[in-house]
Amino acid sequence: MEYRRTLYIALLFSLSILLFLLFGPLEAPLFILLTFTMIGWGLESFGVFWEEHGENALILSGGMVINFITAIAYGPAAAFIVAFLSDFFALRGLKKFYPLPKALFNASQISICSMLAGYVHRTLVNAGSYPILSISLSAVVYVGLNVTLMGLLVYLIGKEEYEEFIKMLPTMLLAALIPMIFMGVIGAVLYLQFGMLAVGGIIAGIIFINFTSLLLVKYRKAQIEMLLAMVKALEERDPYTKGHSERVANYAKLLARKLNMSHKKENLLYIAGLLHDIGKIGIPDEVLNKPANLTDEEFKMIMEHPIKGEEIISQFTHLGPILPYVRHHHESWDGSGYPDGLKGEEIPLEARILAIVDVYDALTTNRAYRKAYSREEALEMMKRMKGKKFDPRLLEIFFELMETGDEFKFMAG
Ligand SMILES: [Fe+2]
Repeated sequence: MEYRRTLYIALLFSLSILLFLLFGPLEAPLFILLTFTMIGWGLESFGVFWEEHGENALILSGGMVINFITAIAYGPAAAFIVAFLSDFFALRGLKKFYPLPKALFNASQISICSMLAGYVHRTLVNAGSYPILSISLSAVVYVGLNVTLMGLLVYLIGKEEYEEFIKMLPTMLLAALIPMIFMGVIGAVLYLQFGMLAVGGIIAGIIFINFTSLLLVKYRKAQIEMLLAMVKALEERDPYTKGHSERVANYAKLLARKLNMSHKKENLLYIAGLLHDIGKIGIPDEVLNKPANLTDEEFKMIMEHPIKGEEIISQFTHLGPILPYVRHHHESWDGSGYPDGLKGEEIPLEARILAIVDVYDALTTNRAYRKAYSREEALEMMKRMKGKKFDPRLLEIFFELMETGDEFKFMAG
């Protein structure tokens, strides 16, 4: 697989050079090439981290706007210089460059997209098309080609990565590529009219978008961090539950992946896993750590934690989707659970997942009143609760997951 990927990158690189030679000579003044390359480099290097999807991150960067304007205004060869150089030398983080294969791939594929967009525009204009029509079509070519070339690389990396890519594609298109290419179209039209003045306006626009999205990302992160601090405080009170929420979150994520849930859902489920017991924060230590024989009163207190949790999390608007997962993580398939006694598929799928992984982790860790059960013992006990406490179909899938040893692969990674 490794060599196929290298071959693909080498091929793209050669193709980009070949196209550049074919599309020459350069039609842009040196000053323009330098300025655009510098601007493109700046925008590419200081993009805003938009969403995290495991190891993949969606980064909003404005480099493609500049590449696109160059392609439309100065043709394919100039677009190659600007796109290739600004992308190849783009920074990752503050000081580091991208590793060579990745930098080479990025620069080659982006410059191919830019050159072909420029070529399509030129051909259409020469054939008498309206500029706005040909600019729009070039934008479609740019994005289409961009997605295809990226997809091919991911396909060569591996099946799993390809599936992740497909899952991420709608968000990538809607949140990053389409808005940016739209800015590119507006930028190109304005540039043809107003020259450098338009570029200033466009950069201001991109910086504004990046800045607001940065604030939003930071704000959401801060909210989740605050809730996690509460969970940590909660787990500190009982040494036996230390790390429970994180393990539950990890198992839940694994199961979500097995069920082929979207990235967004997988992430939400992970957060729900981390926060599922946050409602225990109000329960006194004596009750929380009491091994057995709870009084009715105390039991009522415990049974309220999913509702309390829901109340706490509801203060954070963007966590709205996980409220039902938290509220219903103690419901049972046969309707005997709490707080609402929901039955079967009335219980949200995510809550049914949490129910399974929550119990599994509780069984396989030490408690104040008993030692941890082994993996086999725990699974055996859970099997007996199939169709009673747990969704039978989901439980089967969970067993498969445990049998294939994916659990360990995951924990190691
Ligand atoms: Fe719970």
